[in-house]
Amino acid sequence: TTIHLTDYKQPDYLIDETHLTFELFEDHALVHSRLAMRVNADGEGALPPLVLHGQELMLQSVKLDDQSLAADAYQVDENSLTLQPVAREFELAITTRIEPQNNTALEGLYKSGGMFCTQCEAEGFRKITYYLDRPDVMSRFTTTVMAKRDAYPVLLSNGNLITSGEHEGGRHWATWEDPFPKPAYLFALVAGDLYRIDDSFTTMSGREVELRIYVEPENREQCGHAMDSLKRSMRWDEDVYGREYDLDIFMIVAVNDFNMGAMENKGLNIFNSSCVLAHPDTATDAAFQRVEAVVAHEYFHNWSGNRVTCRDWFQLSLKEGFTVFRDAEFNADMNSRTVKRIEDVTFLRANQFAEDAGPMAHPVRPDSFIEISNFYTLTIYEKGAEVVRMLHTLLGAERFRKGTDLYFDRHDGQAVTCDDFIAALEDANGVDFTQFKRWYSQAGTPVLQIDSRYDAATSTFQLLCRQSCPATPGQPEKQPFVIPMRMALLDGEGREMPLQLAGEDQGRGTETVLAVTEAEQLFVFENVTEEPLPSLLREFSAPVKLVYPYSRDDRVFLAMHDPDGFNRWEAAQSLAVDVLQGLIQIHQAGRPLLLDQRLLEVHRAVLEDTALDAAMVAEILRLPSEAYLIELAEVADVDAIHHVREWVRRELATGLTEVMWTRFRQLGDDGSSYSADAESMARRSLRNTLLGYLMLTESSESLSACVQQFVEAGNMTDRQAALVALVNSPHEQQKQAALDEFAQRWSDYPLVMDQWFGIQASSPLPGGLERVQALMSHAAFNIRNPNKVRAVIGAFANQNLANFHRADGEGYRFVADQIIELNRLNPQIASRMLTPLTRWRKFDASRQALMKAELTRILACEDLSADVYEVVSKSLA
Ligand code: ARG
Ligand code: ZN
Repeated sequence: TTIHLTDYKQPDYLIDETHLTFELFEDHALVHSRLAMRVNADGEGALPPLVLHGQELMLQSVKLDDQSLAADAYQVDENSLTLQPVAREFELAITTRIEPQNNTALEGLYKSGGMFCTQCEAEGFRKITYYLDRPDVMSRFTTTVMAKRDAYPVLLSNGNLITSGEHEGGRHWATWEDPFPKPAYLFALVAGDLYRIDDSFTTMSGREVELRIYVEPENREQCGHAMDSLKRSMRWDEDVYGREYDLDIFMIVAVNDFNMGAMENKGLNIFNSSCVLAHPDTATDAAFQRVEAVVAHEYFHNWSGNRVTCRDWFQLSLKEGFTVFRDAEFNADMNSRTVKRIEDVTFLRANQFAEDAGPMAHPVRPDSFIEISNFYTLTIYEKGAEVVRMLHTLLGAERFRKGTDLYFDRHDGQAVTCDDFIAALEDANGVDFTQFKRWYSQAGTPVLQIDSRYDAATSTFQLLCRQSCPATPGQPEKQPFVIPMRMALLDGEGREMPLQLAGEDQGRGTETVLAVTEAEQLFVFENVTEEPLPSLLREFSAPVKLVYPYSRDDRVFLAMHDPDGFNRWEAAQSLAVDVLQGLIQIHQAGRPLLLDQRLLEVHRAVLEDTALDAAMVAEILRLPSEAYLIELAEVADVDAIHHVREWVRRELATGLTEVMWTRFRQLGDDGSSYSADAESMARRSLRNTLLGYLMLTESSESLSACVQQFVEAGNMTDRQAALVALVNSPHEQQKQAALDEFAQRWSDYPLVMDQWFGIQASSPLPGGLERVQALMSHAAFNIRNPNKVRAVIGAFANQNLANFHRADGEGYRFVADQIIELNRLNPQIASRMLTPLTRWRKFDASRQALMKAELTRILACEDLSADVYEVVSKSLA
């Protein structure tokens, strides 16, 4: 059934207090709840029926104000328990029986390895007990956990530990109390044999907060980076948003089986172990970055999500978009702002733009859904963050802060909407964002087409801006957006020129933000003394597709001279896109390929510029991804894209071999000293990018450098980069030796084995499907573990495009088979794996037919979960 935003109604009942007792056993758990409830209406009218959510529960007993209800006094179906209260205030006591050990969906209460843990967002609490499982019902929780002491010495829930004690028979218990009212989706429980890492943080008002990270004992050496990231996040939220932590204790627990990255449960964040654990021997720089980002993200939710939460799930981006924006700014402040922006924009354009152009396209605030789990999307998270970023750009940092202060102040303890967020920004600053709010209601990626005209006689420069937005499901027509466009004008030396807009008294300095609000809009700059080259959409100030008729020479000029780092990268990137697209056409026409030497010269210049941030150089050298080239294509020819991109990489490697070697050697290796600071990571990033290129020259020199790096590397970043280069090389013997050695050395480290799986599953060499099938029978593979599924099936379908899209359709068939299996075990993960198949419209007629045939085969399966059904049916519609 489809749920609509317009059907929102206030809850009929509220739950002031929630008392839970969990009795945990090996083959079941008993959940006793006592709920202090009241009707959510004034006056004396008749009481509505009380409908509680519940799924996959065995109901043991129901008591209303201490009176057991007879079986005919309530109704139970698949999704609910209904009864008729007789008083306006009452206590409801319910006991349910569940089987956490059989919960393979990893939603609700489940077992991961030897421990019990929970995941309740969005609607997992209803798999624990009957409840009003909706975010606008906020309650004060007290939770008692009971279990065998030897197997589960650690018993945790939200808030503060109140009491604990022993029972006979080796069982014990602990009671936790959370003073902050919260929706059920923020509830958490953990019971296990866990090692605890302690630290503390003194808040800005001088309160001491205990910080604890709980992990399985063998991982205790891998928590330092997460703890440091947490302390930095806490300080940053105080400095930048004035937000202080509010409980006496903050806990993070790492679990191995987790559907997503992590979860911001009040005071007790539960993390995928891949987002906590980081040690130089076992984790790459990318993993270190991810840990920092996710720790910060979940911590920031304490205010943007927990203290102020969502009224309903259509408002999901209220907390997610805002929190992603906050964690991105945190990262930018801790590392290189430009590099962070490049990474985020690269990701957004290759992935969210594709979502916006596909069958699941939806607005940042969706109008309807079948299964909310399907809406934890790039649009809600990443585009949602771009929308908040635009508000920040339009207001400026100071006025944005005034707005968020008002938002947190006004809505503390409430469940609110995206409109409330905007209203706070408006009211604090006396502005009107009515038109801006179209970003929340209209799906699709706008196209911003800009043309210019310079008139030497009048010294004027005109920018004619035209915006449009393609139709998306259910939205044939779009109204103009408010597009903040940061820009400058460059003179012949690449210097920024003064900006004077016609009709304005004041100049605008040398960089400004134009607000494009009309379908067609003209901006006229005056006193422009020479024909300028515009530097447009700096910092990617709006999530749009910019079209401006730059020549290749213009792009080369900008790549060399734009004073703005982001747009330098953007110019090099768009030059590469242009060159690649041209070559793809030539290849399709069967003509010989010839590389435009301007691309090579830009790369040479960048490589020789030792003043440039090494991470920037690496970003420029990394060509646009196959996924991005597919997104840009009308009809994507995967084989041609793959062939041409690899060809250009080899041409660059051949043409720049010498300067690459020079730079590679200059950058040196780390030896045994490793540091995760931005500069060291930048150096490794560039050096390993160069290693990848040098391996394409197939010289014995590069092979021995690579093997040597694999053997001697003092950290996982360098070791993994060498392994990737070997796996993608034709040197069968060295490749196999390296893979075997790696698997032996790291067989006890599941996260390292995930890398080993991922590297092979994404290798584009022929025979990829057969390799992936072999990996699935490897002893370390387990389809019940989402990280393994992502490392093998996810990597194959998303990163191994040449093999996934093999012309005979066997890649599609393999992925569909896995989805059918996962549908029974873990619907959320099954649904995630569908994404690549839903993109069928991008490909040639034969592949389209093959992909649709697999989607149709999935749709015909019995017992299809709502998750899979929604995505498959919408993508075939
Ligand atoms: N709120 C969590 C986060 O953004 C993600 C929860 C995802 N849950 C889900 N059912 N998809 O960090
Ligand atoms: Zn989040």
